[in-house]
Amino acid sequence: MRVIIEDSPAAACVKAACIIGEQLQRKPASVLGLATGGSPVGVYDELTRLHNCGELDFSKVITFNLDEYVGLGPDHSQSYRFFMRTHLFDHVNLPQGSTHVPDGRSLDFDSYCESYESKIREHGGIDLQLLGIGTDGHIAFNEPGSSLGSRTRLKTLTSETIRDNARFFGSEDAVPRLAVTMGVGTILESRCCLLIAYGEHKASAIAKAVEGPVTAQVTASALQLHRDVIVVLDQAAATQLNRQAYYREVEDAQSLLESGQLGKLGIGDE
Ligand code: PGA
Repeated sequence: MRVIIEDSPAAACVKAACIIGEQLQRKPASVLGLATGGSPVGVYDELTRLHNCGELDFSKVITFNLDEYVGLGPDHSQSYRFFMRTHLFDHVNLPQGSTHVPDGRSLDFDSYCESYESKIREHGGIDLQLLGIGTDGHIAFNEPGSSLGSRTRLKTLTSETIRDNARFFGSEDAVPRLAVTMGVGTILESRCCLLIAYGEHKASAIAKAVEGPVTAQVTASALQLHRDVIVVLDQAAATQLNRQAYYREVEDAQSLLESGQLGKLGIGDE
């Protein structure tokens, strides 16, 4: 796991967008896994800015979102399809039909969820999956206790998640009780996972996810089993990490490697 600690939420968003941008430069026809919630908004703003500057092209990109509330149609102001249109899809050159957000109004969720998984496979799997983290340690809507092998399915939201998300709906009563969500197993099949978190209220969940035991009680901890995970944090979200100094040393060494200053790493004769 690579842990990058930036000075501010804004700097963390720029860093995360830069990592996504590098993915698109490397592979213009990337399959991106996208997330919703407060955390990705600044990332999408930066991706939009890079697109407007002519630095990012989404014309060959395919996207799959992690989740959607059950019962909300695409035009509901709190649906994740609506969120994605507002924050990204309407601002970049993603072709019509290239974006996928689970449908929260299916009449047969079992077969719908299977077809969502099939579509991901048909597109060759997700190259890079953007993730936020809940204060209860969830990724997507994989609440504590979700199987670490779980696939796309219906999930009941915890009271903590309902409380956290009430800010978007005006009251807890207005938050849907169920969501369709990619499973932990689905997420772990992405080639790379990019987890972002800002703020002190995320510090405990981040410490458990990054340095705690792998447990279904903190589904983000399953990322420790993945071979290519990047965690981008602001300082506040990093405060409960024990190995902050080491993560900074790793990033310093990485930038020396990237800038070719090999002598400073004891490589060669420089
Ligand atoms: P947030 O939520 O980005 O709105 O804090 C993240 C999540 O619950 O996954």
